[in-house]
Amino acid sequence: MTKISFPTRVGTPLTSNALKVMLLGSGELGKEVIIAFQRLGVEVIAVDRYANAPGHQVAHKFHVIDMTNPSALKALILQEKPHIVVPEIEAIATPALKELEADGVVRVVPTANAAWLTMNREGIRRLAAEDLGLSCSRYAFADDLDTLRKATEQGIDGREPIGYPCIIKPVMSSSGKGQSKVDTPEELEAAWDYAASAGRVNSGRVIVESVVRFEYEITLLTVRSRNPKTGAIETSYCEPVGHIQVSGDYVESWQPQTMSPKALDEAKRMADLVTTALGGTGLFGVEMFVNGDEVWFSEVSPRPHDTGMVTMITQWQNEFELHARAILGLPVDTSLKTPGASAVIYGGMDREGIAFEGIAEALAEPGTDLRLFGKPESFLKRRMGVALARDVDVEEARAKAKRAAAKVKPVA
Ligand SMILES: Nc1ncnc2c1ncn2[C@@H]1O[C@H](COP(=O)(O)OP(=O)(O)OP(=O)(O)O)[C@@H](O)[C@H]1O
Ligand SMILES: [Mg+2]
Repeated sequence: MTKISFPTRVGTPLTSNALKVMLLGSGELGKEVIIAFQRLGVEVIAVDRYANAPGHQVAHKFHVIDMTNPSALKALILQEKPHIVVPEIEAIATPALKELEADGVVRVVPTANAAWLTMNREGIRRLAAEDLGLSCSRYAFADDLDTLRKATEQGIDGREPIGYPCIIKPVMSSSGKGQSKVDTPEELEAAWDYAASAGRVNSGRVIVESVVRFEYEITLLTVRSRNPKTGAIETSYCEPVGHIQVSGDYVESWQPQTMSPKALDEAKRMADLVTTALGGTGLFGVEMFVNGDEVWFSEVSPRPHDTGMVTMITQWQNEFELHARAILGLPVDTSLKTPGASAVIYGGMDREGIAFEGIAEALAEPGTDLRLFGKPESFLKRRMGVALARDVDVEEARAKAKRAAAKVKPVA
């Protein structure tokens, strides 16, 4: 394992001694990471595929490039010479990052290999299930409809069939894009077509998974950071974040999610194994399904997680601050401040330059807060903001967050 060289000092932004970080992906999560770095005096260069992305609006410098294009990505990194590159989304030419990291040109967070493995469901699933032995849904991969049908109904590679119902997902996609649940053999072809059309980069490869019957699902925000006294890299955990997903996209989250002591231990054990295997430092969102004492690993993001936006109201250091600190080799504190919840605010229309009304009403209840991301274009189901609430317990907080979100009205 290569030793991470942490910065020993922070210079002045926009001067020759600046400590420079480049964010690849500057959406609502990247925006908060940028703010966290800026508060520590770091110069931040925000990159996204479209102009005026949320993170562009708060960075020292910004660029618009196609981050899946390896030569464009390399050229920009060589031009800006950041000390650290922070991938904030999955759709990036990660092999180019691997090359630059191997050549010692730049440090990639948490590692270029982690960014590469986790952008493809196959990479991370094989690592988790086959190398680390974590309990997962049954799964198979297919490049065409015939193989998909065979994997589902008869089994391939000497494995038992996945069976119905099952879930089909493009190997490269996020936020539920191209994903469908299939209950009967007749629905399989439509699911294949949908997945093949919606995946990014190499379309046409899918994972088929058995459906896990879970009581609830969590994101275990897991931090790999440097111990200030010993210099060793340690794993620490936030309180579990519970959430609800609709069509593969998160609509509500809360913290803490109560778990049995056994399930919590198992979740931490799995999170430690998978984040240690990915390496580097930073915050990871480890997604898991839970039923009683039983835990299944689902997937992991080597970066802040959308469901973790709740930590902006529940923790002393939110997930973005934890990420920035861990990346810089600084101490972290994952402790909870208060129970709380988040509720997503959608655009509700396809239109550029929309406005929001009802903000004062949304914030009128004590213990509420709001983030409007500033996205230049709204879509019906695009996440444009999030309402946050704290209260004496999670149930109260969830109800309050939903009330606040409902008061915010997107208007043309
Ligand atoms: N095998 C499964 N069994 C039961 N539910 C599942 C399974 N796979 C996915 N789901 C449901 O669909 C949601 C989205 O799946 P997954 O996290 O794999 O997709 P994603 O596109 O990566 O989503 P995101 O990027 O928002 O995390 C899960 O959070 C869970 O609610
Ligand atoms: Mg997910």
